[in-house]
Amino acid sequence: MYKYLKIYHSPDLKGSVKISGAKNAALPLIASTILSKKEVTLSNVPNVADVNTLLKLLKNLGANYQFTNNQLTIETSTINKTTAIYEIVKTMRASILVLGPLLSRFNKCEVSLPGGCAIGARPVDLHLKALSLMGAEIKIEGGYIKAKGKLKGTDIVFDKITVTGTENIVMAAALAKGKTRIINAAKEPEVVQLCESLKESGIDIQGIGTNEITIYGTDGELIELKNTEIIPDRIEAGTYLAAGAITNSKLTVTNAEPNHLESVLLKFKQMGFKIEIKDKNITIHPANKINSIDILTSEYPGFPTDLQAQFMAIATQANGVSVIEERLFENRFMHVAELNRLGANITIQGKIAYIKGPTPLYGADVMATDLRASSALVLAGLIAKNQTNVHRIYHLFRGYENLIEKFTNIGAKMELLYEPNP
Ligand code: UD1
Repeated sequence: MYKYLKIYHSPDLKGSVKISGAKNAALPLIASTILSKKEVTLSNVPNVADVNTLLKLLKNLGANYQFTNNQLTIETSTINKTTAIYEIVKTMRASILVLGPLLSRFNKCEVSLPGGCAIGARPVDLHLKALSLMGAEIKIEGGYIKAKGKLKGTDIVFDKITVTGTENIVMAAALAKGKTRIINAAKEPEVVQLCESLKESGIDIQGIGTNEITIYGTDGELIELKNTEIIPDRIEAGTYLAAGAITNSKLTVTNAEPNHLESVLLKFKQMGFKIEIKDKNITIHPANKINSIDILTSEYPGFPTDLQAQFMAIATQANGVSVIEERLFENRFMHVAELNRLGANITIQGKIAYIKGPTPLYGADVMATDLRASSALVLAGLIAKNQTNVHRIYHLFRGYENLIEKFTNIGAKMELLYEPNP
């Protein structure tokens, strides 16, 4: 009996949505507690499946925590195992974030290989190469990354910009001996928050928010990690603003960080929507005419790949041909076939999708394939006539907190149902 989400035609939304803490900032921050000599409290932590998976992993290693009302208090001094097991890692690739901190604290660890996933091969070779350069001895055996050795700072050049790779090496470098320089580092706000948290806790880190980060490690001494409030989820904010856009409704997101959404807000404006910013609140106003758009996904501060699918859903309602190029991940067009099932007119040539709009959408059964693809299907379901059933809906709960409640509060009609066994 799997759950699916039934979405009823809901073309008029109104009101506001409070944005949760960022999943992708919470995950590295939680992993970084492995480096802490004392209990740490993180606030504004989203209660989403991915966060709970990482907590389960840490508990399995011996950590203790309490997680209520978005406040997480975690004690990692009790960790007595260094193997991140397949049964947990297989459900979330970002589990790889424990590799750097475990290795730098215990000088050894075993982490199950995350393997492939729906949006492409997504290897972890860059994480491993960097740790090897820092002196780790790494072998892959029985589906596990087995790493050992005392880490020493060095210069690392990432051949490709990697978000969790940068985070892993920053955490590893924090306890390593000497100076680590990461060249071609990721600049995402989530990476910045991790670096700032470590800096506030006494680690000397320079170049935060630039593509060259320098970290001076403690040579094995654990850190007094400070309590931190997780930054707002820019992808969740972008998704609800996209709900305003696709229904051409006035909608406000509160507790957001507009500075993290510059490229995204610019694309909304180019499509003809008016964007109003007041402190941490962003309001999208209806467009007279929705313009087609060109989007190229790239690393921050470029347009995020995690909002590509949602903008494709909006583009089905734009006038003319929109062109969306996915630069970061292969196979991240799995939502295209599903959007076409709803009546969209999208063709793919390699890494580029051409969306001809506007097309009326009609409700149908569709399949979620990954986290962000499933949110695009929910958006499309809002404007599709009749009813849309989004299957494999568990993908959504990996990253969107209280999604149904938040959508219902702004006037969308949807409910979670059980599917009968075939
Ligand atoms: C993170 C985000 C994810 C987002 C992605 C890109 C988290 C938990 N997840 O994922 O939501 O979509 O950034 O913004 O923060 N690569 C390699 N070898 C490696 C590592 C990466 O080839 O060792 C490639 C990937 O296949 C991809 C590119 O580098 O093509 C960028 O991936 P990366 O930034 O590492 O993504 P994640 O950190 O997994």
